[in-house]
Amino acid sequence: MTGMICGTGAYVPPYIRDNNEIATMVETSDEWIQERTGVATRHIITDDTTVSMAAEAAKRALKNAKIGAEEIDLLIVSTISSNVILPCAACEVQKEIGAVNATCFDMSAACSGFILAYNTAAAYLSGGVYQKALIIGSESLSNLTNWKDRSTCILFGDGAGAAVMCAEEGNRYLPVTHSDGEKGNALTCKSRHTKADIMHMEDDEYYMQMDGQAVFKFAVKKVPEVIGETLERNQVRQEEIDWYVLHQANKRIVEAVAKRLGEPMTKFPMNLKKYGNTSSASIGILLDEMNRDGRLRSGQKIMLAGFGAGLTWGSCIVEWK
Ligand code: ACO
Repeated sequence: MTGMICGTGAYVPPYIRDNNEIATMVETSDEWIQERTGVATRHIITDDTTVSMAAEAAKRALKNAKIGAEEIDLLIVSTISSNVILPCAACEVQKEIGAVNATCFDMSAACSGFILAYNTAAAYLSGGVYQKALIIGSESLSNLTNWKDRSTCILFGDGAGAAVMCAEEGNRYLPVTHSDGEKGNALTCKSRHTKADIMHMEDDEYYMQMDGQAVFKFAVKKVPEVIGETLERNQVRQEEIDWYVLHQANKRIVEAVAKRLGEPMTKFPMNLKKYGNTSSASIGILLDEMNRDGRLRSGQKIMLAGFGAGLTWGSCIVEWK
């Protein structure tokens, strides 16, 4: 028994902020941003919230899977930007979509979040605990972005990606995931502090702060390594992998990973030009695009890989249904 993806969905808010608009806010240019990151535009919430985006992506995934919300018995939302601390986003989504029979909880693992939600659901499904799971990555990072800091505000965007997973007979692949709390200072955000803390906090500290070069070096070293470990753990040869669906952080990171693996860029789909880095939503949004435009075919093996704050990183093999 394993957890198979049987439907996908995504949602991005309608408002698009392009690089030229950002150049009116901080000293930068469209040329610099595109060259250093590959990002041209990102979608930013106006009326939406992390929960409303998650619910919309979830409804689309359920429709794609032809499964009713009441059939879902596990609902996981991965997010670092939930509207409120309590109740959890997953319970709010449950209410919105009518997944009345689901056990609901949130996960917080930043840009590795979708991978960890997938792995958690797969473990429950393959262990026979639950039969149908809904996993969602949803982020309104624009609320955590310092729009005066040009080294970070160029990168991030808002959106949600979802997948329905079903317990079915099939090949079971084991993930490889890692964490290194010692290096947590590379990417931080303190906005969940108490009111008293905030009063003594520098304005900048409230928002996401990042040592961009440290994160870049970490990603280009660790992602190829963990992909290698995942292949070895599952006795799968590299040439058997049809697609590498990586967290969409920076075009140069994806290119560097492809180069280290000796794989052609055609195996590394990217949509970060349109959406920027949507953290735990990025892999779900990209999988949904590929599913809907027919790139994903039955029997294909897809390597998912995520990396981000914590630091956390990991990868897993998905066999397409
Ligand atoms: N526009 C113009 N110039 C800029 C900008 C900008 N937006 N940002 C920085 N610069 C300048 C710097 O001030 C610096 O100028 P200096 O040489 O005069 O000091 C110069 O450009 C080079 O700065 P670097 O920080 O060295 O630029 P780098 O090439 O490393 O690119 C970037 C910065 C894009 C942030 C890169 O480091 C990166 O992408 N890192 C990975 C970040 C990432 O992926 N994070 C997310 C992963 S985890 C998660 O998703 C939550």
